[in-house]
Amino acid sequence: MREVMYLSKPSFIEAIKRNQTNIDTIHYNNETFVSLFLNNPTLKERLIKNNSFYIKTHGCQANIRDEESIAGLLASLGLKRVEKIEEASIIVINTCSVRENANNKVYAEIGNIKRLKEKNKDLVLILCGCMVETKDTLNNLITKYPYIDIIFGTHNIDNLLNLLYLYMENNNKKRIVDVSSKEGEIVEDIPTRRNNSYSAYVNITFGCDKFCTYCIVPQTRGKERSRDKEDILKECKLLLSLGYKEIILLGQNVDSYGKDLKDKNITFASLLDSVASLPIKRVRFLTSYPSEFSDEVIDVIAKHDNIMKYIHLPVQSGSNSVLKRMARRYTKEEYLALVDRIKAKIPDVALSTDIIVGFPNESEEEFLDTLDLIKKVKYASAFTFIYSPREGTAAAKLDDKISDKEKVERFKRLTDELEKYYPLYNASFINKVEEVLVTSVSKKDKNKVSGVMFNNKIVNFNGDPSLIGKIVKVKILEDKLYSFNGEMVE
Ligand code: SAH
Ligand code: SF4
Ligand code: F3S
Repeated sequence: MREVMYLSKPSFIEAIKRNQTNIDTIHYNNETFVSLFLNNPTLKERLIKNNSFYIKTHGCQANIRDEESIAGLLASLGLKRVEKIEEASIIVINTCSVRENANNKVYAEIGNIKRLKEKNKDLVLILCGCMVETKDTLNNLITKYPYIDIIFGTHNIDNLLNLLYLYMENNNKKRIVDVSSKEGEIVEDIPTRRNNSYSAYVNITFGCDKFCTYCIVPQTRGKERSRDKEDILKECKLLLSLGYKEIILLGQNVDSYGKDLKDKNITFASLLDSVASLPIKRVRFLTSYPSEFSDEVIDVIAKHDNIMKYIHLPVQSGSNSVLKRMARRYTKEEYLALVDRIKAKIPDVALSTDIIVGFPNESEEEFLDTLDLIKKVKYASAFTFIYSPREGTAAAKLDDKISDKEKVERFKRLTDELEKYYPLYNASFINKVEEVLVTSVSKKDKNKVSGVMFNNKIVNFNGDPSLIGKIVKVKILEDKLYSFNGEMVE
């Protein structure tokens, strides 16, 4: 078997450990790594000949933001990003592991890359992201896919150029693996190539301490760490100076921002207030945790016109017994009371959610509680999932008597219930003029563009690609359930 050089290996114990209470902020210095290549004539020449990279990202916004750092690092070596995988000399697959089908997509993808590797011996295949963070999956990848050249974890992005150097220096022989957890450490100033020039993700926390029993994220992303408030504001101001229209603050649980910082006055509410006080057109945040969503945060959202009145508030289930088995720290009643407080202070709020059906041994009665909650909240939109057991999580050890067929049927009933309320919500926008941030040419019609309303709903209307990145006024004409058709008025 092709030899593997381990710089570090994943460890569940390390991932969830946090003895260190303070955060160490490390400032990344790219020059050291770039000079490794520049001082080595053979490698310098190789990079000039093989000067393109391709990145495919799966998963959530945290991974998309990581992709931008990976692109920034590779671009700092003078490499060009390409959109066609066949044209790349370096292929990076940034993986997600939240459900089994996320893993399966990646396995299929790397299977297809094998033939590219056979054609080009110098092609470098890199795997990173959440999937490589679990021991068994990592071992499987190493044994079954000997042509993966470099593997690095979610904590090791700042080491990418070093890993590439080690790999190229040993003449493509040994594979390199670096998957380690860094408790209480945050690396700032990693070079970044943003995916667009109008809407930017800004991390505020990394990791998660919640350990919902179904979820793999605390394992893959480690203990929760908050970024320094000044570093966040510095990044937001830079984005503003570059003309960005929208900032999306990111954390697995934004509401716990600041709890690990020395200055106890720094909370998510105070951070959101500071960010929204900048002259940025749109501010959003993801994701909120119901029992930590404070009244101060509600007040800050209500106070600032530039904070979009859209709250993604994952409930997961409407049954108290299921919530307990999931280790979610609220009841259905507490969730509904929070929704009432939000609606009272922000009447035009659009609420969205995540719901899992088929959690182990979810009974019909428990499922009906979820449908009842939907009836009460009347979500504007939702993301729905069938439970998928994840290695190493508490729920994966549970026996489950509910059949797959039953789960699929419930999934359909869940969607039907949610879809009852979308038309009611959507109807209130017909013939109204709304601000829309244009994000792309419409997938279905080249003469149309697509944009996003405050409530995260998509609007398609006639327009040309020069509108991308602009906020325009659009009259909403037709409800298509998951999107609208409209007409630009200004
Ligand atoms: N931190 C966020 C999002 C985490 S992952 C939060 O707490 O809401 C995004 C969504 O994936 C979750 O909200 C959950 O609905 C879903 N999810 C996570 N693990 C899952 C699993 N094992 N099976 C099915 N869905 C899952
Ligand atoms: Fe996963 Fe729960 Fe953390 Fe969200 S809050 S990332 S669902 S453990
Ligand atoms: Fe997937 Fe990791 Fe995000 S598991 S959902 S990419 S945090």
